[in-house]
Amino acid sequence: MPEVSPIHRHVRSMTLEEKAGLVSGAAFWETRAVERLGIPAITLTDGPHGVRLQRQSVDHLGIFASEPATSFPTASATGSSWDPELLAEMGRALGAESRVLGVDVLLGPGVNIKRSPLCGRNFEYFSEDPFHSGAMGAALVRGIESQGVGASVKHFAANNQETDRMRVNVEVDERTLREIYFPAFERVVRDARPSTVMCAYNRVNGVFASQHRWLLTDVLRGDWGFDGYVVSDWGAVVDPPAAVEAGLDLEMPSTGDRSPRAIVAAVQAGELDEAVLDQAVSRLLTVHERLIQSRTADVSADFDEHHELARRIAADSAVLLANESGILPLSPSAGGDIAVIGEFALTPRYQGAGSSHINPTRLTDALTSIREATSRAIRFAPGFTFDGEDDAALHDQAVEVAARSEVVVLFLGLPASAESEGFDRTHLLLPETQRTLLRRVAEANHRVVVVLSNGGVVALGEIAAQAPAILEMWLGGQATGEAAADLLFGVAEPGGRLAETIPVALPHTPAYINWPGENGVVRYGEGLYVGYRWYDKTEREVGFPFGFGLGYTTFAYTDMKVSVPDPAHASGSVEVTVANTGDRSGADVVQVYVGDPESSVNRPVRELKGFAKVRLNPGERRTVRIDLDERAFAFWGPSGWTVEPGVFVIEAGPNSRDLPLREEVVLEVPAVATILDRNSTLEEWIRHPSGAKALQGAMAAMGQMGGAMASEEMLPLFGSMPLRTVLNFALQSAPETFDVDTALGDLLAQVEPV
Ligand code: BGC
Repeated sequence: MPEVSPIHRHVRSMTLEEKAGLVSGAAFWETRAVERLGIPAITLTDGPHGVRLQRQSVDHLGIFASEPATSFPTASATGSSWDPELLAEMGRALGAESRVLGVDVLLGPGVNIKRSPLCGRNFEYFSEDPFHSGAMGAALVRGIESQGVGASVKHFAANNQETDRMRVNVEVDERTLREIYFPAFERVVRDARPSTVMCAYNRVNGVFASQHRWLLTDVLRGDWGFDGYVVSDWGAVVDPPAAVEAGLDLEMPSTGDRSPRAIVAAVQAGELDEAVLDQAVSRLLTVHERLIQSRTADVSADFDEHHELARRIAADSAVLLANESGILPLSPSAGGDIAVIGEFALTPRYQGAGSSHINPTRLTDALTSIREATSRAIRFAPGFTFDGEDDAALHDQAVEVAARSEVVVLFLGLPASAESEGFDRTHLLLPETQRTLLRRVAEANHRVVVVLSNGGVVALGEIAAQAPAILEMWLGGQATGEAAADLLFGVAEPGGRLAETIPVALPHTPAYINWPGENGVVRYGEGLYVGYRWYDKTEREVGFPFGFGLGYTTFAYTDMKVSVPDPAHASGSVEVTVANTGDRSGADVVQVYVGDPESSVNRPVRELKGFAKVRLNPGERRTVRIDLDERAFAFWGPSGWTVEPGVFVIEAGPNSRDLPLREEVVLEVPAVATILDRNSTLEEWIRHPSGAKALQGAMAAMGQMGGAMASEEMLPLFGSMPLRTVLNFALQSAPETFDVDTALGDLLAQVEPV
């Protein structure tokens, strides 16, 4: 007899009702316990940039209070750090706080792609690029799981807007899913083995993600080997038995006894195989057993240290977008008065609204931090209110303060009401009151440093025209004020690079004409062309390109070496030397892009396939090596991941529009043979190795017409004709013995795969 594991023994001794109960939550944040068998309940809690543990009143949109925990910068910030090690460190801190607060599963990270800058939840997502999102997500998950806490990668899949998010049907082709919307999930699943994956609310090609068998079972488990369990987004399950059947293992939150009853009834009616339910229970218990065991290990969380970590991450994620004549960093001791203007300096916007809303352990405002960081006189003016009513007097006061100061640090951004989980934005501009204020302040004093707080990107044309320096802080977490002061006075270097293109204007954006859909359907008409893939393909100007960001020092890129040890195999590496050519320490992100100009399918001009963050002292240089695996060259074709032989372009540099290093490599991988049939065109037959041979042999039998059609001169004319039509036309001048069906049969027999 094979040994039966304790979990399988549990499953065997459970009643149908107990099993149906286990795959459905007991409460808002808890699973059911089975006391009879000593199976305890598990606590799941949001996520992703802090622990939102609610003890009394509960909700899924952060309305009620939660236990204090560190509010780290949100994902639009941390994504901009391009630093997986830093994300792993943050993950470890999140894991430790979860353990201390008694949380077993932290609901995050979100690795959905920023399809449009309008998505209200973009502050919770890393990037417009799947490779980047996957690398950052995997690092965060590794960190969380290293503390014995489960992560929940969300929201699988194609959850890229808030409008109608609970039911919208996303119409998207498989290649786009495989190349753009899946890879971040795939990377996290394969590399970081998360305990759970959270399914999305929306439908994908007609089926709710919560009951999408292809998504939850075929792709997630079959293709990627996911060995954790799938939890529903809160309230995403529509049909509980169908969800279990499709591969969902836990419905959250509890629906009372409605879902368990429906599952029991489905099993009793023979509509749901009990073995499928057993499998879900066993997956759930396997993960829970591991998480429960790790509860016993010693763990502590140093909240002061985590505050300092949040401060470091915020600085490493901030993107310096402009810095004309080196206006930044400011001297902390020399110079005249500094005007600090903008309500955000006093009332920081440091996180987004909705389920990720954390109750911070501390909160520092920039004004206090700036005062502490400098001996220079500070004059403050709020400049505007968040609701923008009657701001004229505030504008006047700010102008007066600006005019009397040597430099202005102007804190602008999106108020909380402008972006949130649950709804999308409708434009990319800052509120009118802030734009008026900027115009007036810049007239009074042209030395303006704009510091931005926003989750999703804002169009910056107007600001760039008026302010010599722009520092994008994103939603920088509870220490964002200190981080801003560190950056303004050069105590820290702005380490962030854009993980999302900043467009010139909304109509330029990829999803513009397909957003946010209508009649319950959103069509991903732009296909693969999301983010820089779109701007590069359509040769559009951008405000600031993907990957861009300045520092207080400068870097030079030289000596690119691409090595593909065996051209018959699509894998290799790229070496690049980076030198710090300035007089301060700093970090830059080496980015490697791959393009396939000779492809048989439409492909983006370039795609990010590797990156490395390099910290260098003045004068220091380092050679970094970035590996390229098969996927770096592949596209998703009719028979899966496909690499075609031919030339590939490898580019490297500091951002997607500044790639000083370029090399071509030729891959000699076997060509993927087209599968020929009677509907394949004459040209496809001629270009196919055994097809061409077979056709040549058949030519004689076809007579004059057949021969003429297949000649090089006539090929442009007849090349697109299906073989069946070619043979029928040939019949007109063929000898009497020629028979179309026999000829077709002969030809097909000669190209049949052996
Ligand atoms: C959000 C999830 C979150 C869940 C629980 C949902 O509305 O989409 O991201 O984890 O609520 O709060």
